[in-house]
Amino acid sequence: MDGNGRWAKSRGLPRKAGHRAGAETVREVSDACLELGIQYLTLYAFSSENWNRPQNEIDALMKLLEQFLKSKSKEFAKKNVRLQTIGRTHLLPESCRAELNRVIEETKNNTALTLILALSYGSREEITDATKAIAEKVQNGQITPSEINNQTLSNHLDSAPFPDPDLLIRTSGELRLSNFLLWQLSYAEFYITQKNWPDFGKKDFREAIENYARRQRRFGRVSSSK
Ligand code: IPE
Ligand code: MG
Repeated sequence: MDGNGRWAKSRGLPRKAGHRAGAETVREVSDACLELGIQYLTLYAFSSENWNRPQNEIDALMKLLEQFLKSKSKEFAKKNVRLQTIGRTHLLPESCRAELNRVIEETKNNTALTLILALSYGSREEITDATKAIAEKVQNGQITPSEINNQTLSNHLDSAPFPDPDLLIRTSGELRLSNFLLWQLSYAEFYITQKNWPDFGKKDFREAIENYARRQRRFGRVSSSK
C-alpha cells in the first residue's frame, strides 16, 4: 500500500490525507477480490520500520486504523469478510488492539474473503519469532532438530493459517520487498504498478490479475508445453 504520501504531496495535501484516501482503496480492492473469488488478501498496512516515522504520523495512522475497524463491522458481516492480522500487534495502542480483537472475533466465521492486515509487521521479526518458538520446543524435547523442515518453519509463522500468496502487487513503482513476507513470497509472481495506492482502483486490480493469469508458473520445473 505504497505511495500515500506522494499522492498527498502532489495535491498539496498533508500526508494524513493520503492515508485517508488509501483507506478507501482497501474497500475497492477487497470488493474486487470478492467479485473475482479471490479468497485471501494481505495488506501491508504498517511495518516494523514505520515505527520510525514522526510521532504525529504514527498517531494519525493508528487513529485511522481504529476508525477503519469501527466503520467496517457491518460491511464485513454483509460481505462475508473475515479479518485477520499478522505482525507484532501487541505493540499497537490499546484502543487499536481492542477494536482489532473485536472485529476478528465478530468475523471469525466469515468465509468469502480473508482480509489479513500486516500491522507492526516485519518478515525478519516474524522469522526470528518463529525460530525462537521452534528452539523452545527443541529445548523442551517436543521436537528434535532433525525433524525441522520447511513446513515446521511455515507452521510457526504468523501466516501459518493462510496459504502463501500467488501474487504480490507493489504500488508507486518501488522495486523492493521492504521486509514483507520474505519466506512466503518465495514463488509469488510480482506485479509492479506506477500508480500510488490511493489511485489504485478495481480496474487496476483486475488488470493485475489478468496479467498474472497470463504468466507461466514453473516452480523450478521445466515447462510442460516444451
Ligand atoms: C504507505 O504510503 C502507507 C503506509 C506506510 C501506512 P507511504 O506513507 O509510504 O507513502 P510515500 O511512500 O511517502 O509516498
Ligand atoms: Mg512509502
